[in-house]
Amino acid sequence: MKNKLFAIALLFAAVLGGCKQAPKGENWHVEDGVIVVDEPQRGAGQQSMLEFRTDPIPVVRVGFVGLGMRGPGAVSRFTHLEGVEIKALCDKYADRAHACQRYLEAAGMPAADEYSGEEGYKQLCEREDIDLVYIATNWQTHVDIALYAMEHGKHVAIEVPAAGTVEDCWKLVDCSERTKRHCMMLENCVYDFFELTCLNMAQKGVFGEVLHAEGAYIHNLEPFWADYADNWRLEYNQSHAGDVYPTHGFGPCCEVLNIHRGDKMEYLTSMSTKSVNGLKLAKERMGSETFACGDHIVTLIATKSGKSMEIQHNVFTPRPYNRMYQLTGTEGFANKYPVSGFTLRNSQIDRNLLPDVPTLDEHGFVPDEVKAQLLQAYKHPIHQQIEEKAKQVGGHGGMDFVMDYRLIYCLQHGLPLDQDVYDLAEWCCVSELSAISHANKSMPVKVPDFTRGDWDKVKGLTFYE
Ligand SMILES: NC(=O)c1ccc[n+]([C@@H]2O[C@H](COP(=O)([O-])OP(=O)(O)OC[C@H]3O[C@@H](n4cnc5c(N)ncnc54)[C@H](O)[C@@H]3O)[C@@H](O)[C@H]2O)c1
Repeated sequence: MKNKLFAIALLFAAVLGGCKQAPKGENWHVEDGVIVVDEPQRGAGQQSMLEFRTDPIPVVRVGFVGLGMRGPGAVSRFTHLEGVEIKALCDKYADRAHACQRYLEAAGMPAADEYSGEEGYKQLCEREDIDLVYIATNWQTHVDIALYAMEHGKHVAIEVPAAGTVEDCWKLVDCSERTKRHCMMLENCVYDFFELTCLNMAQKGVFGEVLHAEGAYIHNLEPFWADYADNWRLEYNQSHAGDVYPTHGFGPCCEVLNIHRGDKMEYLTSMSTKSVNGLKLAKERMGSETFACGDHIVTLIATKSGKSMEIQHNVFTPRPYNRMYQLTGTEGFANKYPVSGFTLRNSQIDRNLLPDVPTLDEHGFVPDEVKAQLLQAYKHPIHQQIEEKAKQVGGHGGMDFVMDYRLIYCLQHGLPLDQDVYDLAEWCCVSELSAISHANKSMPVKVPDFTRGDWDKVKGLTFYE
């Protein structure tokens, strides 16, 4: 009798155990304890866009779509670039498109054609005399506009974040691969002066092997929520969980860690606080009782070669502006926010380059004068070319102009762009992947390989000249 009962109990346990299935989402399943989001096959007729070059375009003809707070600054900056024609200005609201004519007039450039309405961008994209569509609309419209533009033979540059879901990242990758058009995200923070100098130092081995990198978007948007057209930004945060604005933090870290240029992101795990201030805002401004995006989000990423990244997002609480930007190397350290500085082993100082550097305390930041010498000695070649003009033209202290300059320079010379469509997808997909992790008790989530196996073919990031 005892044995019989034991056998029945075992049978029950087996049946129950068998019924207990791994969790599964609409677009993901679990493999070896890691959530894996579906990855589509490369379609027929598509080609890898790694190191992609088109024929040089000596005069780049541009159409701008989205002329709210961000877009007009781009139009203005483009009037300072050589070899550019501004052909078209488009915004949902006609007065916004028209208002940008003033930059062209001030620069002595011919007036551009104007387009408006939610679908005005289609006419702009259908024109034969435009090479590049520069998109600075809200996040909800980036992908549709970019796909339409590429389908009509245009290269596209899309404001950050270019896409908010993994599916949309794949759509942009696939469309770019099929149409053989550049699809670049306008991630400006990778061109900031400290970040680009640190990238140069990292590429020259000054920090030894960089093992860990940190980045963030911590910016209290309280004074700005009311200014976004039709309340798009609060609505997006209200309805989307996860790190919805990851690319300013990710971009500079991924460049230093050679993501898809020798290494790749393997998986991430993410944790979010509840929403307190976001919810309060949404109640006041939208009458909403729910808010998907947590007030503070931390995401950790592991790379194939055993490195790590930490990225934070917080646009809701009173804090000083902070993109963190921290590099931890085997031989040195860099930090930008809240205090910028370097820590280096004495062995890392190139005495031919910096003969006057005194013996360094390897437990603290290098003295200010040594920091200044390092920043000067390792100034990135791009900054050597364009820093003065960039600072004059401006745009977040100059980095926006450096970005536009590089985009146009590479198009004019038929060079691969600094940021390719795989950077775009890798830096953007974190939004949805972090949300999936939050919804599953911070379970690890695999980061898709948008290069489809080619992540190790290119060694290191090159800014082509
Ligand atoms: N890289 C940076 O530092 C930085 C800084 C600010 C904003 N941004 C990005 O720039 C983009 C725009 O942000 P913003 O602050 O200017 O917002 P905004 O609301 O001020 O501007 C968005 C504009 O897009 C227009 N628009 C919406 N739908 C359109 C459509 N179908 N066709 C044409 N125009 C349309 C709106 O009318 C509005 O004028 C966002 O992606 C944002 O994240 C980037």
